[in-house]
Amino acid sequence: MSTLQKALVLPVKQGTFTLQSINIPTPGSGQLLVKVHAAALNPADWIVQKYGILVENYPTVLGSDIAGIVEAVGDGVQGFEQGDRVFSQGSIDGLRAGFQQYSLFNVNITAKIPADMTFDQAATIPLGLATAARGLYTSSAPESSESEGTQLTAPWEGDGRGKYTGKPLVVFGASSSVGQYVLQLARLSGFSPIIGTASLRHTDYLKSLGATHIIDRALPADSLRSEVEKITSEPLEVIYNVVPQAATQDIAFDLLAPSGCLVTVLPLAKAEYSKRVIWVPRNHAVVVSLYKALPDLLKEAAIRPNRVVLLHGGLNGVVGGLEQLENNLVSGVKLVVRPQETA
Ligand SMILES: NC(=O)c1ccc[n+]([C@@H]2O[C@H](COP(=O)([O-])OP(=O)(O)OC[C@H]3O[C@@H](n4cnc5c(N)ncnc54)[C@H](OP(=O)(O)O)[C@@H]3O)[C@@H](O)[C@H]2O)c1
Repeated sequence: MSTLQKALVLPVKQGTFTLQSINIPTPGSGQLLVKVHAAALNPADWIVQKYGILVENYPTVLGSDIAGIVEAVGDGVQGFEQGDRVFSQGSIDGLRAGFQQYSLFNVNITAKIPADMTFDQAATIPLGLATAARGLYTSSAPESSESEGTQLTAPWEGDGRGKYTGKPLVVFGASSSVGQYVLQLARLSGFSPIIGTASLRHTDYLKSLGATHIIDRALPADSLRSEVEKITSEPLEVIYNVVPQAATQDIAFDLLAPSGCLVTVLPLAKAEYSKRVIWVPRNHAVVVSLYKALPDLLKEAAIRPNRVVLLHGGLNGVVGGLEQLENNLVSGVKLVVRPQETA
């Protein structure tokens, strides 16, 4: 095997993505080396490049959603072997990244891909699902500094499955990648009704993932509020806002019960909160516990991947895809590239 691979490198902060030949890394203890067959694109990838945030060390490689085949196994690894089809969430260290032909995976956040799932589909799962889980279930993580999380028990832990039957949940941005996983986890938790905002063309699909009601996200703020209130008069203890806009945040905040918790994907300015608002916490423990449960959840199709739009040209497709994401042209699907097809 060659010691070199093609990678889409971000050479300096706010630099230009450049296709380069770089070394294939060696797996350390508890790691796998994976030949990357599919990598999904996320808003964070263009946000890092444009604003120079989140990543400190350059050159680096981005791409948080990765699926492929195990090429080599590091020391101490159990349960995985060469040839396994796997997916994992990448990181900002450049080594565990999707926009390259070989990536390292940490085994504690790696899952095997079911036989009936493609690499492209599997690559849509990691970041969106983990973000949904971290936002909804952080209170179950012992090491978390977020004492003020949702206080919900995850459906894969203890008596968590179906625990919140009869309680309503609202997700603003239900057709986003993260929103689709919030719907699926909310269904496993038993929430009902599960109310989402999205473009109405996605209604049937989002109902298949767990939404009981979809409200047209184009309605004016007052109508969004009154449509939710028509569906449920129960106190809204949990609202998950995946839309990074102040206007949506305000509606969500108004609808929230005084004792409730609003989860947001990005920190949004609001001078003082009179109710609990949490920015999706970093919570590695909940993600590790999720990955232990994932094989069973995937087997029973309780968690399904996002719908895929494949970008052509291998890693050369990434930059155009990130432009689509930045310009809000991605609707209800996940963009995916196949690094091995890079010319
Ligand atoms: N904190 C974290 O760890 C973390 C992790 C992952 C993502 N994020 C952030 O979470 C956000 C979503 O990420 P993603 O990957 O899920 O995004 P995405 O799939 O690219 O989001 C696109 C979707 O957003 C929906 N949307 C846009 N404006 C909306 C509005 N006003 N109301 C309702 N829906 C709206 C669109 O809905 P329609 O097509 O139905 O119109 C579209 O389906 C991004 O801001 C991202 O940076 C944060």
